[in-house]
Amino acid sequence: MTTRRGFLKGSTLAAAGAVAPRVFAHAMPRAAPPAIPNLDPNKLARFVDPLPLPAVARAVGVYTVPGPAGAQARVPHYRLAMRAIAGKLHRDLPPTNLWSYGGVLPGVMFETRSGEGLAVEWVNELPDRHFLPIDHSLHGAERGSAESRGVVHLHGGKTPPDSDGYPEDWYPPGQSRTYYYPNDQEAALLWYHDHSMGINRLNVYAGLLGLHVIRDGPEEALHLPGGKYEVPLVLFDRDLTTAGQLSYPVSADPDRPWVPEVFGELHLVNGKIFPYLAVEPRKYRLRVLNAANGRFYRLSMTPDVEMHQIGGDQGLLAAPIPVRDVQLAPGERADLIVDFSQQRGARVLLVSEALELMQFRVGASRVSDPSLLPAALRSVPRLPESSAIQTRRLTLDETTNMVAESQGMLLNKTPWHMPVTERPVLGTTEIWELVNLTDDVHPIHLHMVRFQVLDRRRFDGFQYMTAGSLRYLGTAMAPDANEMGWKDTVRVNAKTVTRIIVPFEGYPGRYVWHCHILEHEDNEMMRPYEVLAAGS
Ligand code: C2O
Ligand code: CU
Ligand code: CU
Repeated sequence: MTTRRGFLKGSTLAAAGAVAPRVFAHAMPRAAPPAIPNLDPNKLARFVDPLPLPAVARAVGVYTVPGPAGAQARVPHYRLAMRAIAGKLHRDLPPTNLWSYGGVLPGVMFETRSGEGLAVEWVNELPDRHFLPIDHSLHGAERGSAESRGVVHLHGGKTPPDSDGYPEDWYPPGQSRTYYYPNDQEAALLWYHDHSMGINRLNVYAGLLGLHVIRDGPEEALHLPGGKYEVPLVLFDRDLTTAGQLSYPVSADPDRPWVPEVFGELHLVNGKIFPYLAVEPRKYRLRVLNAANGRFYRLSMTPDVEMHQIGGDQGLLAAPIPVRDVQLAPGERADLIVDFSQQRGARVLLVSEALELMQFRVGASRVSDPSLLPAALRSVPRLPESSAIQTRRLTLDETTNMVAESQGMLLNKTPWHMPVTERPVLGTTEIWELVNLTDDVHPIHLHMVRFQVLDRRRFDGFQYMTAGSLRYLGTAMAPDANEMGWKDTVRVNAKTVTRIIVPFEGYPGRYVWHCHILEHEDNEMMRPYEVLAAGS
C-alpha cells in the first residue's frame, strides 16, 4: 500500500512531468486519526446543489486617498467583516461553522477596473477563540497573543506595502484596518485571503478567502464570453466530520499539532460539494482558482470538450492554447474558454484525475453564440535575460529531526525572523534561480510583482548535498505553453532549478515571498523581501 501522501504527491510529480521516481528520504509526522471520524465523500449525493456564484461587493461610500504632495484621490470605499458564519456546503449536510469575509464562502467578490483604485475597511469581528488547532510552537503563533487574528492580502495585487497584508500586521477581534488597492495593473483574476503569521493555513481553511477581478478595455474589446457566460470557479478541498463540521488534521503530538500537508477528501467549487451548473450549448469563460491549502489539481472535462486556456495568474496569454488538462498548484489561476456546443443535452464533468468536482448540464436546444475566441489576445513580450541586472540563487530546503521526520521547510536555509536578505531595487529586473532541494513540488509566490518563467532544469541532488555544486541532468526545459504569460506563482519541481525573471515594478517597501502550500508557509517557508527605492 502506498501512503495517501505518497500516492497524491506521486501523481503531482507525474503531473509535473518529472521523470525521476519519487524517493521517500524520510518519514513525515503522521496525521493522527481524527477524534470524530471524517465524512466519506461517497456517502454524499452528487450534483444536487446548483453552483453558487460569488456575491459582488458593494461600496458603502467614498474614501479619500492621500496622495504625494497633498494630492488626493476619491475611490469607492468598502467595508467587509471577517466573522463566523454557518454555511450549507451540501444539501444533505447540516450547516458548517466557517469564517468568512462578508458572510459567504467564498467571500464577496470585488469587481473593478484597471487603474480604478478602491479602499476596503477589513473589520475583524471573529470570535475570540479559534476553532481549529493552533500550533503554538510555530513562530508567530505563540501562546498568549490573540488567537483569532486576521490580516488580509490581495494575492496578485500590485499593492503598496502598508496595504499588502504583511503577515506580522495582523490585528485582533474588535479592530479594523483600511487598505488601499490602486488596481494599477492589467486585467486579471486576483484573490484575497488571510495572511496571519503562524495561523494562515487555519484561517484560510476556515474560509477566509475571496475573489477580486480586474478588468480593462483591451480585454473587453476581445468579446470573450461575458456576463452569465463568464463563471468563476474557486476550488478547494476540506475534510468534514460526520457531523458536517470542518476537520483539520493534527499530528500525534498535542504540543505540536502542525502537519506538513493537508489533502481534504471533499472538494468544493464556489463553496459547494459536488455542485452542478446548467449551461447552454455555447462557449463559456471559466475562471478557475486553486484556493486549496496544499492540493494540486489537474483539471479536465469528461467527456472531452473543446477547451482553450486564454490566461493565467496575471491575465491573458498572447494567444489561446488548446488544452486537454490544466494543472493548478495552490494559488495559481487558469482562464479557460470551454465550448459546450458539441455537447447538446449532455452531462459533462469537471474532474481532477479520478476526482469528480462538478457537473455541467448542457441544454438541448441550439443557441446563438456571438462571443469570440480571438486568435490573438494580448501582447506579452518575453523579457530578455539580458534585462536582468542580477541573478539570485535561492534554495528550497526541508529540515528533518533526528528520526528523519520533517520539521518544516525553509527558503534559502533561513528562518523568517532573520534579517532581510533579498533587497531588489525598484525599477530593476532580476533573475531568481529557485533550487528545490526537497522531494516535493512547491508553488513559490512573490507579493507585489509579476514575473515570467524562464525554464526548469533538473539537477543531481546528491551532488548538491555532498559537494555543494549544481550538476545539471539534461537540458533546460521551456515552461509549458500555458505558463508563458505573466505569473505570480510558479511550480518549482523537486530537484529542479526553476528560473523566473522579475521586474520589480510598483512600490518600495517590505513584502514577502513564500511557498503557497499554506502548511509550509506557516512553518517557515516564507521570507520577507524588501524593494529598495531607486537611488537608495
Ligand atoms: Cu496568496 Cu502571500 O499569498
Ligand atoms: Cu500574494
Ligand atoms: Cu512548499
